[in-house]
Amino acid sequence: MRKASSWLALVGVLATTTAAADTPGKLRGLVSVSNKDWPEDDAIWVREDSPISWYHNFHWNVTATYAALPQDRLEFVPTLWGGGVNDTEFLANVTEMIRPAGGGDGRAITHIMAFNMPDQPYEYGGSQMTPADAARAWVRNLLPLREDFGIKIGLPLVGDPRGGWVDPFLRNCSGLNKGKDCEFDFVPLHAFGHFGVLKDQIGKFASAFPGKPLWVVEYGYPDQNLTTTQQYFNESLAYLEGHEAVARYSWFGAFRSTVSNVGANMAMLDPWGNLTDIGSWYLGGEATGTPAMPSDMPRTDLCTVDNPCGSSKNAAATVAGLQDLSLWGGIVAFGLLFVLV
Ligand SMILES: *[C@@H]1O[C@H](CO)[C@@H](O)[C@H](O)[C@H]1NC(C)=O
Ligand SMILES: *[C@@H]1O[C@H](CO)[C@@H](O)[C@H](O)[C@H]1NC(C)=O
Ligand SMILES: *[C@@H]1O[C@H](CO)[C@@H](O)[C@H](O)[C@H]1NC(C)=O
Ligand SMILES: *[C@@H]1O[C@H](CO)[C@@H](O)[C@H](O)[C@H]1NC(C)=O
Ligand SMILES: *[C@@H]1O[C@H](CO)[C@@H](O)[C@H](O)[C@H]1NC(C)=O
Ligand SMILES: *[C@@H]1O[C@H](CO)[C@@H](O)[C@H](O)[C@H]1NC(C)=O
Ligand SMILES: *[C@@H]1O[C@H](CO)[C@@H](O)[C@H](O)[C@H]1NC(C)=O
Repeated sequence: MRKASSWLALVGVLATTTAAADTPGKLRGLVSVSNKDWPEDDAIWVREDSPISWYHNFHWNVTATYAALPQDRLEFVPTLWGGGVNDTEFLANVTEMIRPAGGGDGRAITHIMAFNMPDQPYEYGGSQMTPADAARAWVRNLLPLREDFGIKIGLPLVGDPRGGWVDPFLRNCSGLNKGKDCEFDFVPLHAFGHFGVLKDQIGKFASAFPGKPLWVVEYGYPDQNLTTTQQYFNESLAYLEGHEAVARYSWFGAFRSTVSNVGANMAMLDPWGNLTDIGSWYLGGEATGTPAMPSDMPRTDLCTVDNPCGSSKNAAATVAGLQDLSLWGGIVAFGLLFVLV
């Protein structure tokens, strides 16, 4: 991990020498899934000319490599993945980050997301919460952050806005909030599948929550050949940039192809950490011509019984416990959705 500290130092320098990067029309983001085997990869996404202006990582705390970057350089959006029904740990942790008890500068958090697919079971990567439990957790852990610090809160990230979870949640929440509406400021969503799935998801959420900014916090077209993946990438990026309801998006992708659970071609890095075409385009650069997975490197060479694909070295390996499920199972859930629509 010697390398990690030198990259940290570099990021520290960047933090003090660069102003906020120019962002495209919409806020382009990063799904930060650090891999403990290649901590140096984290710095790629925040290089000086990067258009990426925000990130999330399924966790309440920052990604270590970005700890020194101020919010106006790279906005960290904490997530309460699930739980919090009978405790206020998330509230305490985020409050401590914003306003350290020991004094000193806090982090100016402005947005928070809560609950990763509470309407889906654990086996599909959901946080499997009843509307009533989620409402309790929301009132305990999120409302105070909105009321005390003016932090904008995302609606729980549901798989299906018409699936019958959101309305009881809002009713239960209002019941616990002295009858007042539990307000939310933006609506996060996932979209995995062909371009029609992305359009359909955005259409459904836009009509369910008119006027609310939509955040497409994980999206992509898994397990396709390079041409199809690149066509999808181009088409989806143009669509997201042009859709008036979409405020932010983040491609699922910031990992090496060898550890991808969505097929090699969605990965923004090749097996050695070089940017692929998609990786470079996402950072506003030119095509690199670097294949995500060289044809003479069969995936089976890298995935063995001792190091199976999708386990010890997978993209989500450093995202512990349930959070693993959110990446791996989330794709499964959306694979199903893709089949259904
Ligand atoms: C949050 O992350 C930072 C950076 O990795 C770390 O220094 C800090 O100890 C973490 N806070 C807690 C409470 O775990
Ligand atoms: C929360 O506490 C209540 C009352 O003690 C208990 O019935 C419930 O099972 C708890 N819920 C969770 C998710 O821990
Ligand atoms: C709060 O931070 C502590 C210390 O890092 C950690 O153990 C705990 O899991 C965190 N709780 C939540 C809900 O984020
Ligand atoms: C939550 O809402 C459901 C459906 O509206 C209702 O049946 C239930 O009684 C509510 N629970 C609580 C704790 O308010
Ligand atoms: C890539 O996949 C698409 C859609 O499945 C298919 O039509 C096309 O022929 C494939 N291209 C190559 C080069 O395999
Ligand atoms: C995608 O867009 C890039 C320019 O950003 C272009 O070079 C490339 O040919 C496009 N690929 C496809 C398959 O449309
Ligand atoms: C990819 O990275 C490796 C290791 O850093 C380097 O040796 C190689 O030249 C790079 N390949 C390309 C196509 O950039």
